[in-house]
Amino acid sequence: MRRLFIAGNWKMNLKLDSAIALAKGLKEAAADVSEVDIAVCPPSLYVQPVGTVLAGSNIGLGAQNGYFEKAGAFTGELEMAMLTDVGCKYVILGHSERRHILGESSEDVNLKVHAALQAGLIPIVCVGEKLNERDNGVTNLVNQRQFDGSFSAVSAEDMKKCVIAYEPVWAIGTGKVATPEQAEEVHAFLRDLVAKRYGQDVADVVRIQYGGSVKADNAKELLSKPDIDGALVGGASLKVDAFMGIINAVR
Ligand code: PGA
Repeated sequence: MRRLFIAGNWKMNLKLDSAIALAKGLKEAAADVSEVDIAVCPPSLYVQPVGTVLAGSNIGLGAQNGYFEKAGAFTGELEMAMLTDVGCKYVILGHSERRHILGESSEDVNLKVHAALQAGLIPIVCVGEKLNERDNGVTNLVNQRQFDGSFSAVSAEDMKKCVIAYEPVWAIGTGKVATPEQAEEVHAFLRDLVAKRYGQDVADVVRIQYGGSVKADNAKELLSKPDIDGALVGGASLKVDAFMGIINAVR
């Protein structure tokens, strides 16, 4: 049985004061939640102070990116081991904003997945098609390419540790959520890809989150689908009530 996993992706939002206040509010509000795994992924600069607030709580800490190289002359980048050093358990990799705005390829994501696993981080690896790709009937093809590329040469044991986030690009930040049926179709397809490559035992434990305009009022229906094991939440993770609304809707 896979435990539901709700993660907040704060993206490039909040300032230090509001990040700390949000972390404090969530720590208190989620104190009695034991049925689902929870994490927040603040901007890198705020990971450590937020982690200090969350210490000893049931809310895990994650980063939104990391670099694949070991420490060295890589101005502006962060080594995966630096993320674990300040308490990160998770790292989001290959988010569509990084793929489509910052130009990350699945090959880049793959290097980062390996580096994250080596550092002991749990990668949350995002895949998802754009609207024109869905309209052109290549949704599965796009997701398969991103899956294959991002998880290239990842062992079965390591795959079990990974989280996949299916985030249709057209649903991110648009308020246009995928229907539970549309999401489930892709989740089942992705789980089948895991099964074909690694076997059903691995596919049965890998958690696949849905992301894209998840809110308290649509979370329950989405997460009631058999292959939807959680949510990666952007906008609705920036306020205690909105994020807790999602968590409380699915517990
Ligand atoms: P959203 O973002 O919930 O604001 O649509 C989700 C994400 O990009 O992870």
